[in-house]
Amino acid sequence: MTNTSLASDDGYGATLCALRSPLSEPLEHGALLLELVRCATLAANGHNTQPWRFELSPDVISIQPDLSRRTPVVDPDEHHLWVSLGCATENLVLAAAALGKHANVVFGTQQVHVALDNAMPLRSPLVDAIFQRQCTRAEYDGQPMPTDVLQELTRAADRRGVRLLLLTERAKIEGVLDYVTQGNSAQIRNRAFVNELKNWIRFNEADALAAGDGLFSRLTGNPTLPRWLGNMMFSMLLSEKSENEKCVKQMRSSAGVAVFVGEHADPAHWFEVGRAYEHFALAAATLGVRTAFLNQPVEVPAVRTQFAQWLGLGAGRPDLVVRFGRGPRMPYSLRRPVAEVIVR
Ligand SMILES: Cc1cc2nc3c(=O)[nH]c(=O)nc-3n(C[C@H](O)[C@H](O)[C@H](O)COP(=O)(O)O)c2cc1C
Repeated sequence: MTNTSLASDDGYGATLCALRSPLSEPLEHGALLLELVRCATLAANGHNTQPWRFELSPDVISIQPDLSRRTPVVDPDEHHLWVSLGCATENLVLAAAALGKHANVVFGTQQVHVALDNAMPLRSPLVDAIFQRQCTRAEYDGQPMPTDVLQELTRAADRRGVRLLLLTERAKIEGVLDYVTQGNSAQIRNRAFVNELKNWIRFNEADALAAGDGLFSRLTGNPTLPRWLGNMMFSMLLSEKSENEKCVKQMRSSAGVAVFVGEHADPAHWFEVGRAYEHFALAAATLGVRTAFLNQPVEVPAVRTQFAQWLGLGAGRPDLVVRFGRGPRMPYSLRRPVAEVIVR
């Protein structure tokens, strides 16, 4: 892979190169299962907590929620956790197809049961995108997206039980932005939210590498700092005003916003929303389209209710808010080693 974000002249870059190397085609079945787990863990997931475990048997991979990695303040009902498991499952299913396995997925709240049967290998560009996709928290170029690209993104998100609202008119984008800043202000005034977020920030490369999880400060364009200084500066410098200004710039530079809405507000549908979102994000990556969440409107219950009404959803629950557009790639996030997420 040749891009500056994956330069391997340092520990972080070298780890990324191994983590995000293209799909290998193992000859041995055990190695194939591990390769599928690596692909699954590269999925989007809330705060990069990686709230999953994988139990392997010869023809079944069981994906289980890791409740020790919950984020109870931002995600009190485990909505994001189930979305994250959906994202991981989508990567796994696509990678399995490329390696000659048909994956039959059965959702359950104790585990997602993925049975693997032999099939003709089905290679799709989406599989290569598993290693390229990222949440790109940069400003985009502000240009509209051509209709054919919007149609392809819409097709990619098509999934039973999930609706996609694609908003591209400037007035609509401004409307979403209003809810983003309302939600953002509420979150930054909430000390528990700020403390939970701070716990998942990795302020320097050494901490990011040691943990293999969390939100590395450089990914959002922030400087790296010793942990003690980062902790101190984070609480001092995080302000409603500066964060809202950042959201305004990010949103106004985007070509549009995708809102994902599950048919029902329950774990099974949140899981399906995750699968639809991941497929959408992978398709976007193949088209050179960047994506990033601005989920504040769906994370603060009072704002979510108003946002749902504004969208015309009535009592329906909007699940995810994703902006998209063209822009620079940002550094990539890490994952924990595959061995750490396997149930023994
Ligand atoms: C359910 C869910 C909610 C998320 N919410 C946000 C969010 O509000 N803001 C944000 O910047 N990223 C959000 N993310 C993105 C994650 O932080 C990101 O996927 C994770 O850090 C891994 O990075 P990567 O997707 O670039 O590999 C969310 C991801 C998921 C799956």
